[in-house]
Amino acid sequence: MKIAIVLGTRPEIIKMVSVIDEIILRGHELILIHTGQHYDHEMSDQFFEELELPTPNYNIGVGSSSHGKQTGKMMEGIEEILLKETPDILLVQGDTNAVLAGALVASKLHIPVGHVEAGLRSYDITMPEEVNRKAADVCSKYYFVPTEKSAIKLSLEGISRKDIFITGNTVVDACFRNLEIAKKHIDDIENSSNPSNSFNPSNYSNHSNSSNNSTSPDSSKSSSFSNEILNLLKLDNIITLTMHRAENVDNKKRLTDIIDAIAELKDFNIVFPIHPRTKKTMENFGLYEDLSKLDNVHLIKPLGYLDFLLLMSKSLIIVTDSGGLQEEAITLDIPSLTLRYNTERPETVEMGGNILVGADKDFIVDSANKILNDKSFYDKMSLAPNPYGDGTAGKKILDIIEDSYEKGECKLDSPDDIMDTFTTLMKIVDEDITVSDFEINNNALIRTVFNPAYESMKFPTDDLNLKGMNILYDKMS
Ligand code: UD1
Ligand code: UDP
Repeated sequence: MKIAIVLGTRPEIIKMVSVIDEIILRGHELILIHTGQHYDHEMSDQFFEELELPTPNYNIGVGSSSHGKQTGKMMEGIEEILLKETPDILLVQGDTNAVLAGALVASKLHIPVGHVEAGLRSYDITMPEEVNRKAADVCSKYYFVPTEKSAIKLSLEGISRKDIFITGNTVVDACFRNLEIAKKHIDDIENSSNPSNSFNPSNYSNHSNSSNNSTSPDSSKSSSFSNEILNLLKLDNIITLTMHRAENVDNKKRLTDIIDAIAELKDFNIVFPIHPRTKKTMENFGLYEDLSKLDNVHLIKPLGYLDFLLLMSKSLIIVTDSGGLQEEAITLDIPSLTLRYNTERPETVEMGGNILVGADKDFIVDSANKILNDKSFYDKMSLAPNPYGDGTAGKKILDIIEDSYEKGECKLDSPDDIMDTFTTLMKIVDEDITVSDFEINNNALIRTVFNPAYESMKFPTDDLNLKGMNILYDKMS
């Protein structure tokens, strides 16, 4: 099977590692297409090197520009490559411009699209990412969703349950596997260095109680641990801070309020690996220099993944507007404060591990201090269950693709039936029957399921018992 992947930014590289590993492990042909949206060594190449990913077959080299220009260039480049390579499937991940460009181009060439991390919604249409993920979900054939909540969102938008697969999030695969590697390296450093200088990983071990279900770590992988990060890891009360969202960093008032909050957090050591976009706007707004003068604020360049995982896992709090960090924080049992007023990761808030503090200075400062000073509050947040799966998302995604390919279903066909050959109906089910039996008996496809006992929606998996449920379904004529 020939599988193409389009990616272009730091989080896509990290979140596609387990998928790429599985493709290679299973002997499929991989066509890796880098759009070149992120191009600094710290934002791209260092991850390929550290995570031992194959060099992309193509780099379109789009660089930075306006959304229209950048997406247009990506589409042109991707089309040329897909016409030449004719892959069986194209995979995209997340919500960047690469996802929009890849999904749109491939679907028009009748190449099936698999959207990894589909079904996320912030309902904020001013976010470029919301436009990208919604548009990609119109063009996709396979929806690999991280949680039941995302699956329900897609089925409410009219996507067939047969195309939606709850796999967990591949970020958990990346997190578990690489944290093991990072730990091993820290142990090696510990064992080989002067004990008085060594990093004490006790905090970090307490936090990382997650089990590793993915491929066992390869301790021969190279680590980029710098002395700088090893020294930072020795600090107490670390806040890992990242931000790069347009709505924060391009808005002077919001960015100033956030920076003012950070400057007030004197009881913490704030480690801030700065995204290049944020560094530029902080400099332009005259906010960089004053912050860099504070002794407890450590402004550093973007880190490699192993360094960054260790930093997060040693932190007391993660303060961020990143999507990936909200997921990683709850995976690593670290409370997070999200610098946004909405999130497409609501599970993290519902589980109790994440608070949306926006750009509200007092709320940011009070929340951080409460986590520091109120142990039961800290415990409650750090013990929030991880909704993003067990670290086997990459394997599940490949199992699904292979199964579909073997059945001859991995292709885009015109439908046999026209739309009005089915009627959409609602019903309260009073018999003991599973979703798949109901569908077979009634020549139907269930769209949504509502459980009145819990006043909540359920995703119609094959084996869900429908007794007492309200269902919406299409009945074929
Ligand atoms: C992009 C994604 C965002 C994702 C983020 C991950 C879109 C619309 N945005 O946002 O969803 O969360 O990546 O980090 O796809 N720059 C550099 N060097 C680089 C890359 C960027 O200096 O290697 C600077 C440039 O000034 C550029 C700015 O950062 O104009 C913004 O980069 P861009 O890729 O447009 O958006 P991100 O904010 O990185
Ligand atoms: N990350 C990293 N080094 C850093 C900052 C972030 O390796 O200095 C990783 C982080 O662990 C996560 C991903 O980059 O997996 C998140 O990327 P980003 O915040 O840029 O994008 P988003 O997730 O918001 O799309």
